[in-house]
Amino acid sequence: MAGSPLPQSFSGPSWLAQVCRTGPARICAVSFEQPKTFFIETFGCQMNFHDSEKVAGSLVSQGYRQVQSIEDADLIFYNTCSIRDKAEQKVFHRLAEFKRLQKLGKKFAVIGCVAQQEGERIFERAPHVSLVAGSASYRNLPEMLVQIGRGERATGLDDRNTDETFETEFTARTNPHRGYITIIEGCDKFCAYCVVPYTRGRERSRTSSSVLEEARRIADSGLTEIQLLGQNVNSYRDPLAKCTFAGLLAEVGQVPGIRRVRFMTSHPRHFTREIVEAIDSVPMLCDHVHLPVQSGSSRVLSAMAREYTREQYLERIAWIRAAKHRSISLTTDIIVGFPGETADEFEQTMTLLEEVQFDAVFSFKYSPRPNTPAIAMENAIPEEEKVRRLAVLNDCQREIQRANYMRHVGQVLEVMVEGYQPARNQVTGRTSQNTTLNFTVPEGLAVPKVGSYAQVSVLRSHPNSLAGEMAAPPVCCTA
Ligand code: 5AD
Ligand code: SF4
Repeated sequence: MAGSPLPQSFSGPSWLAQVCRTGPARICAVSFEQPKTFFIETFGCQMNFHDSEKVAGSLVSQGYRQVQSIEDADLIFYNTCSIRDKAEQKVFHRLAEFKRLQKLGKKFAVIGCVAQQEGERIFERAPHVSLVAGSASYRNLPEMLVQIGRGERATGLDDRNTDETFETEFTARTNPHRGYITIIEGCDKFCAYCVVPYTRGRERSRTSSSVLEEARRIADSGLTEIQLLGQNVNSYRDPLAKCTFAGLLAEVGQVPGIRRVRFMTSHPRHFTREIVEAIDSVPMLCDHVHLPVQSGSSRVLSAMAREYTREQYLERIAWIRAAKHRSISLTTDIIVGFPGETADEFEQTMTLLEEVQFDAVFSFKYSPRPNTPAIAMENAIPEEEKVRRLAVLNDCQREIQRANYMRHVGQVLEVMVEGYQPARNQVTGRTSQNTTLNFTVPEGLAVPKVGSYAQVSVLRSHPNSLAGEMAAPPVCCTA
């Protein structure tokens, strides 16, 4: 579907222009007479950031105006995350700071995982809050806003068993070069350490036709990269059974104008050969798979309820490595110090690291989370030991990455340009493998625009990035 043109008289800010471009015409009928203003502060994963883009878009469609500071806002949204650490305390601390602003007539809304987890306790501890809603209730935000407008409190906490997803054509996209699309919400996996199934509710997929329609709108708005999102993205099941997850990847890749497609986060249990075949055969699918392993020990994986063994994980890695036409980069998440993890079991995680040679590892100390089975498990690992294991793991991974990245020196890689620092004459780009590649532009050549693609000769490598020089003018530019 083509994006709706902006009205001739449009004089709103550029982010609103983006909402208008990707949404249908009725958004442009919004009255600009003293709209109420809102500000959103977001924490956590990419899904939370994209939820905020959708919440912002749907508020704009209700006549609200997004502002960039708390001072300018009538309504302050706080989109929270509770995946690790003492998230709840941090939220209450921040809400206490907001209290002094209540005198100025501002209203407060707490949304996201801490909102779902703490529920009405938030009103007890922070009486100045007017709205508390978990992500499964965002589609009901317009009604909740009417309620708080009447001076009432509003809650959206009872929708975790819903079949519905939060679909809105109004998305205030904030990333200038990548469009995010949530294809599946919630999670049914119930890993023993994880709050997500309790905070985001049960798994529900969008229809492939609505995903493709959104992909076409993103392409029409001039973006060339799409990232498909889901807590468990490869558990995607088209409710109309028109295509599999791998089929959907391939179809999104073929949307005219789209040059790169990424997806996050895959669960090893549902990772199929078909996904590798899709990446291998559709050039627009990026050479990167993020496949969280969490532990290299089958005993720990079973205690975590991960539903795969070390051997099954390594089998999937072998499929990925066997791709005929592509060199697919692999990244992972690891938790150290899960209750009962012995020194030998931690060592198995280290040998898995050596065996797979990941390009990046996001490593975390196990953090006990409310409502999860792991919180009641015995043999908690002392904090100092978790800190020690994390340091051992990170030291080893740094060396693996150093060697991995060094292999790119001498190659010419295509990057999508993400930024430019004139003071250093340095352009920042990202390769298809998701590696940051900083480069300079030889004298006489134009600096490529953000969102365009450039060929870059890799001259040096670091543990977390590559450095090089632009090899030729960009092959394609976005408008
Ligand atoms: N403690 C530590 N790490 C956790 N993660 C999820 N829950 C916890 C927890 N309770 C990590 C996992 C997951 C990533 C998003 O966060 O590695 O893949
Ligand atoms: Fe959490 Fe496991 Fe679901 Fe990932 S798959 S969101 S770790 S419960």
